[in-house]
Amino acid sequence: SYTPTPEDRFTFGLWTVGWTGIDPFGVATRPALDPVESVERLAELGAYGVTFHDDDLIPFGTADAERDAIIKRFRAALDATGMKVPMATTNLFTQPVFKDGGFTANDRDVRRYALRKTMRNIDLAAELGAETYVAWGGREGAESGGAKDVRHALDRMKEAFDLLAEYVTEQGYGLRFAIEPKPNEPRGDILLPTVGHALAFIERLEKPELFGVNPEVGHEQMAGLNFPHGIAQALWAGKLFHLDLNGQNGIKYDQDLRFGAGDLRQAFWLVDLLETAGYAGPRHFDFKPVRTDGFDGVWESAKNCMRNYLILRERAAAFRADPEVQQALRDSRLDELAQPTAADGLAALRADRTAYEEFDVSAAAGRSMAFERLDQLAMEHLLAVG
Ligand code: GCO
Ligand code: MN
Ligand code: MN
Ligand code: MN
Repeated sequence: SYTPTPEDRFTFGLWTVGWTGIDPFGVATRPALDPVESVERLAELGAYGVTFHDDDLIPFGTADAERDAIIKRFRAALDATGMKVPMATTNLFTQPVFKDGGFTANDRDVRRYALRKTMRNIDLAAELGAETYVAWGGREGAESGGAKDVRHALDRMKEAFDLLAEYVTEQGYGLRFAIEPKPNEPRGDILLPTVGHALAFIERLEKPELFGVNPEVGHEQMAGLNFPHGIAQALWAGKLFHLDLNGQNGIKYDQDLRFGAGDLRQAFWLVDLLETAGYAGPRHFDFKPVRTDGFDGVWESAKNCMRNYLILRERAAAFRADPEVQQALRDSRLDELAQPTAADGLAALRADRTAYEEFDVSAAAGRSMAFERLDQLAMEHLLAVG
């Protein structure tokens, strides 16, 4: 059945079901949701937990006493439902003070404020048992060439993450950071635009072991990239700490559709990859229920994010179990790709005349890879044909 249970580890941002429909062209089409109601409804639907930006739970500017009361009430809802908070993050993009960024704002006082705001929510994240702290730098970027010295901005980004790593280490928190790339929107161009940029950046940090990525389906696709390939590289690097599942149709504005909408084939290969690679983290949805719908559509889409994952999980498992597929995989020599190229070593490779001098180039070129049959089998499994 396609009914989720907490063992499936599905999580949702409070800002997803709680999105009121505000976009650059229109005001809200739905009222705000009480985070406690979101926790309760998502628990009923079979989710494992929720995630949040500081400001999703505690409105920006809330006084301390009221903040404590909000946290207490939220905790009570978590306890009552058994819902977890595996991840939290900071809102460094909504308020006007962050119009030029948080960690890379040109103004030093804004950068210091952004760090303090982040550390404050890290304390709360740790208190609630989160394992991952996401950093999405939506305002870290520019609209024009002279506005940002990108090399200096990257120095400041590194400085911020090094300080945060020092902070969680000093506090003894078990948190690791996951950087979320995005090519653009809301800035014209955002720093660390893709998974690849983020992976390279992480290696320059003082404690790279504390940093991984939080790739979002639509964000890589906005850059025209293949999402499963990006996830595979993140897994290969040991850096897939978390991920944001949603749907996107090609290179255009960030659609944040429910998971399963948008590029369905990539969704199929993504689920196949996550399940066969043994990814153990949460399956986190970061989507926006379309603003045309009322709360019926909010809960319908939340339910279907999970349902679609479970459908695809079943379809991908059927694909892998099918003897015809297994034969097709052998015909396409996937097993051979899994073998080292020169386990015999460099000297043996250089001495091997069959590798070069006697290699039959035209025979090798003439072998079919047989990928067409393999892909049709995948599509038929995806469509549950036959
Ligand atoms: C987006 C981003 C954001 C971030 C989230 C975490 O769609 O542009 O995904 O939703 O994931 O705000 O900070
Ligand atoms: Mn998005
Ligand atoms: Mn996201
Ligand atoms: Mn989002």
